[in-house]
This record gives sequence, C-alpha cells and structure tokens, in this order.
Amino acid sequence: QTIAAIVPAAGVGSRMQHSMPKQYIILAGKTILEHTLAKLAQLTQLSKIVVAVSDNDPFYQNIGFIDVKIIRTVGGKERADSVLNGLLALSDNPPDWVLVHDAARPLVAIDDIENLIAQCTHANEGGILASKVKDTIKRGNTHSEQTVPRDDLWQALTPQLFKYHELKAALEGALQQGVTITDEASAIEWANKPVKLIAGRSDNIKITTPEDLDLAHFLLQKQHS
Ligand code: CTP
Ligand code: MG
Repeated sequence: QTIAAIVPAAGVGSRMQHSMPKQYIILAGKTILEHTLAKLAQLTQLSKIVVAVSDNDPFYQNIGFIDVKIIRTVGGKERADSVLNGLLALSDNPPDWVLVHDAARPLVAIDDIENLIAQCTHANEGGILASKVKDTIKRGNTHSEQTVPRDDLWQALTPQLFKYHELKAALEGALQQGVTITDEASAIEWANKPVKLIAGRSDNIKITTPEDLDLAHFLLQKQHS
C-alpha cells in the first residue's frame, strides 16, 4: 500500500495578524512549515510529500532543504482547493492513500500518525486524528440556551488519511455542489463514506491566533530537548 502526504500551506493566516503567513513564523529555530515537514519526513512509509504553496509566495524558496520526497505545487482559494491541487499533482502515479496534514500543526506526534496509518490500513477505511471534547459546550448567541452533551463530540485534528480516489471524488463532488468543507472528513461524510475517529494527542494544536505561539514554542522546544 502506497501513501503520499499533502500539506496545505497556501493560507494567508488572517487570524494570526502577522506580517507574513503564519507557516513562515520562526519558532525554536525554524519556520512552522519546516517543523511540520521535518516531522513528516521521519515517516519512511511516505512515498512523496506534496506541499501546496500560494502562487505568489516569496518565502517558500528560502526554507531549508528537508527531504528529496518533497515536491511543491500551487495552492488554491480555499484549503479544499489546495488539497485538491495536491491530489492532482499526484495523478500521474496516484498512491493508494493520501495523508493530509496542515502546515500549521507542527506539534503532531509521530506515534499518532503511525497509529492512524496502522488502524486505517488495517480496517481498510479512511480516518482522522481527533480528540474528545474536554470543555463544557454551550449553544447560544448572547445567552446560553443549552449545554450540549459532549460524550460523542470530538475535535477534528490532522493528519486525515483517505484512499486517493475516494478523497478526490468526494472533494470534487462537494466543491462542485458548494458544500462547506473545512477538512477532508467533511467531504468524505458528504459522500457517505466512513471516517474512523482515531484518538490523538490534544496538544496537536493548529497554530491559529497570536496566543497559540507561546504554547507552540514551548512544546516545540520540549520536543527538541
Ligand atoms: N490553507 C491552504 N490554502 C488555503 C487556505 C488554507 O493551503 N486557501 C492551509 C493553511 O496554510 C494551513 C491549513 O490550510 O496550513 C489550515 O488552515 P488555517 O489554519 O485556516 O490557515 P489560514 O487559512 O492561513 O488562516 P486564517 O483562516 O486565519 O486566514
Ligand atoms: Mg483558513
């Protein structure tokens, strides 16, 4: 079974309010994108790592060489468009599976990725890393109207692992119909295909707002010490 990775890295990072896209912020000695790619490069199972980068991105060319398996492709308007471009970049020799992982999640544990790959390939079903919701969840606008039972609520993380052809068909179909897709799993759900939930570490955060930076810095330093 062949597995390739796709790393969407074409966002602008508007919520981070930084002078450059957040994937190029330096933490613990290198850019967030380099930390993420260095993690994926440790997985010997991956045949290729496709990085989707914005067309007019002046930063990617300056990142350090990480692995010969890494290839660059162009990103798209939304995250799903970037992932689809990544799939198209692999279409000459498509892998059996694709592992999609956000550039903005450099903290992912290698063990968790290996567990995701082992469980999904064993069950022959796609799946995602996810963590059980810990907080009490309220529904409402100005006032809480309801406390939502959380026993079956999960926070979706990445990586997300799906069959190449299944994901391509689901993304194309969902995009064509204007369905809102914020991750691969939402496209697969739209296509009525199974999505396994694989418990992963909750410190696999998506670096999104300025207050995430100190925590990410701390955790990256800890991983490298
Ligand atoms: N991404 C992408 N192409 C897009 C939008 C996002 O490849 N058109 C990538 C981002 O670079 C990031 C991942 O998808 O690695 C998750 O997206 P998100 O955290 O939302 O990043 P941004 O879209 O850059 O941030 P924001 O939504 O705050 O603008
Ligand atoms: Mg975004």
